[in-house]
This record gives sequence, C-alpha cells and structure tokens, in this order.
Amino acid sequence: MAEVTVTAEREYKVRITGDWRGDLSPWASKRSRVAIVFPATMRDLIPRIEFNGVEVVELEIPDGEFGKSPSVLQYLWNELGKNGFTRSDLIVAIGGGTVTDIAGFLAASWLRGIDWIAIPTTLAGMVDASVGGKTGINSPFGKNLIGAFHSPISVIIDPSWLKTLSDRDFAAGLAEVIKCGFIDENQILELLGSRSLQSIREDSSRVLNLIEQAVTTKAKVVSLDFKESELREILNYGHTFGHAIEKVSQYSIRHGEAVSIGMVFVAELAAAHGLISSELVEQHRQVLKGVGLPISLGAIDGANNWDALYSAMALDKKSRGNSIRLVALSEIGNCTRIEDVSEADLKSAYEKVLL
Ligand SMILES: NC(=O)c1ccc[n+]([C@@H]2O[C@H](COP(=O)([O-])OP(=O)(O)OC[C@H]3O[C@@H](n4cnc5c(N)ncnc54)[C@H](O)[C@@H]3O)[C@@H](O)[C@H]2O)c1
Repeated sequence: MAEVTVTAEREYKVRITGDWRGDLSPWASKRSRVAIVFPATMRDLIPRIEFNGVEVVELEIPDGEFGKSPSVLQYLWNELGKNGFTRSDLIVAIGGGTVTDIAGFLAASWLRGIDWIAIPTTLAGMVDASVGGKTGINSPFGKNLIGAFHSPISVIIDPSWLKTLSDRDFAAGLAEVIKCGFIDENQILELLGSRSLQSIREDSSRVLNLIEQAVTTKAKVVSLDFKESELREILNYGHTFGHAIEKVSQYSIRHGEAVSIGMVFVAELAAAHGLISSELVEQHRQVLKGVGLPISLGAIDGANNWDALYSAMALDKKSRGNSIRLVALSEIGNCTRIEDVSEADLKSAYEKVLL
C-alpha cells in the first residue's frame, strides 16, 4: 500500500492499495450516521463496505453529469435533514469524479461543513477529482460554477475497481496522468513509454505506480496552493483549450479527451513562442495517441469552429481580465505562463490540431 499525504486546509491521507477490504470502521465508529452517495452503476459495491454497525443511509443519484445538478443536491439535503444528520456524522462518496464532486459539496454545505471520505472508482476520480478538495455542481449557466473548497478526511483508492471501467473512460483518466508527467518531475512518462492502453491496463502494478505518481504531483501542488492563487494553475495544463472544446462540442466528449487535444494545442503554441522544441511537441502527440487519446479536432462534432473556441477561451475562468493566459511548459517538469497572446498566434496553434 502507498500513502500520499495532502496538507491542504487539513492534513489527510490518500491510501492507494490493490486489495482494500472495504473497511470504513476506523472513520465510521463514534459517528451516529453515515450517508453513502453513489450512482446506480456502483450499487453492487455498496454491500462490500463495512461501517462497524453504524446506521447507514444509502443515497443513489443519477449517473454522470446529470447527478451534479442543483435538483439532485436538493434531494440529498432533504435526505440528510430527514435522517437528522449532525456535524459529527459522515458522508462517503463512491463513484467517479461527478460523485465525489457533488458528495463533497454536500459535505461542504451541510451545517457549513461536515466530514467526508472519497472512494473514487474511475481513473479520473482517483488521480484528479478526489484529491485536492475542490467540490461542486453544475449550474444551467455552466459546468462547475457552484462549489466550495472542502477537503475530505481521507481518500481510499483501490485500482482493482477499475477493471470494469470502459477503455474510453480509462484513457480519459490517463490524460490527467500524462498531464502530471509533463508538468512535474516524476516517472510517469517513462512508466508509459510507448505502451498501448491494453498493455497498461493489464499491468496492475504499473497502473498502481502511475496512480501513485499522479496523486503525488497533485498532492504536492494543492498542498502548496490550496485555493489556486497561482501554482495550482499548473494543474490546468491543456485545460484552457480543453474546456473550450468541451463547451463548443456541447460536452459530447470526455473531459480527458478534450484536455489531450488541449495539451497538444498549448505545446504547439509554446513551440511557436520558442519555449519548447518541436521534438517535445511530437512527444505529446506520441504518448497521448499511444494510449488511444485524440490529438486533433478532426473527429469531434462541432469543435471545428475557431470563433466559438476563441470566445470560449476568452471566457474561461483561468483567463484574467480581457487577456487569455495559458499554462505552458518551458521543459518537462517546468511550467510557465503565456500571457497576452494574440488571436493570430492562438489560431495558428489551432490550425496545427485541426487534422
Ligand atoms: N474536483 C476536482 O478537482 C475535479 C477534477 C477533475 C474532474 N472533476 C469532475 O469529475 C467529473 C468527471 O469524472 P469521471 O470521468 O470520473 O466521470 P463520471 O463520474 O461521470 O464517471 C464516468 C462513468 O464511469 C462509470 N463508472 C464509475 N466507476 C466505474 C467503474 N469502476 N466501473 C465501471 N464504470 C464506472 C460512471 O457510472 C460513469 O458512467 C467531471 O464532472 C469533472 O468536472 C473534478
């Protein structure tokens, strides 16, 4: 078992183990009630969790982004109210990033903050959404617009739960792992090499190692800059263009797929600004394509629209004032920012990821 410590808001451990027995007794004892939030796809896992005899309230929510809505949150608040949840009770999230996001926000908002535990079951949830204390739901005006910073008291990752995850969702999670390989000094890019998605999935110790490396990078960054005043922005490598693609394609592709194209885009931009070599841009393409991620807009419905992508980037919350600001690499493991970039420069990077 590996343990990674996060010291953001409070100190907590991310436990990564290939054979977790489902025992939550150490966290559940001394509580009167535990609420467990999960989507229908995770129902079979619920009986495997041990709560040491504490009363458990099961709260099933709709799958995916539909579950991250104000109406679902209202339902969850009502259930906590009906069941008399107090500040000393506990919320447990079991599911992908959508579930840890809403359950974390439920915990942040109930009685101004109660304890919660994240048990992520997707790769994106394990390496990204469950670590770092960002919680939230979607608004009709946009994704993740309503939220709070509220760290869990513990994160438990059992990579063996990924066996049932689709290849597409696994690859989308790998995009965030690869991002950590580019923005920080670690062994991620060597661990991936030129391996295919299948060969990575079949090698459970490699998967465990990749998760540990990515979680270590995320934990390090959020521990230094919990509320994203500057350093934490590096976790958004590839996300400015990625978010624009998601929006323009009306969220028809996975977040990780959009981030994959976004990383190639910003690598091209960095190369055009003389920050990195064309070989490093090619390395982005090779590693991302190697695990089956898209590296161009070609096949993405509705995304081939420069004006719409440009407007979406200008509105992205990582932009400051009226200028577009992007996280870029100066070398592997070192980030910089490209600020006040002209539309012409952005458009020429876009043209390099069109096909
Ligand atoms: N808070 C953060 O810092 C942060 C960071 C990154 C992403 N996110 C959020 O995370 C969400 C994306 O997360 P996601 O990709 O996990 O999406 P998701 O939660 O929608 O899960 C993807 C699909 O996988 C299914 N699934 C989950 N675990 C499974 C398993 N073990 N086997 C089979 N199927 C399984 C789910 O039911 C769902 O259909 C987005 O809403 C994003 O905004 C948050």
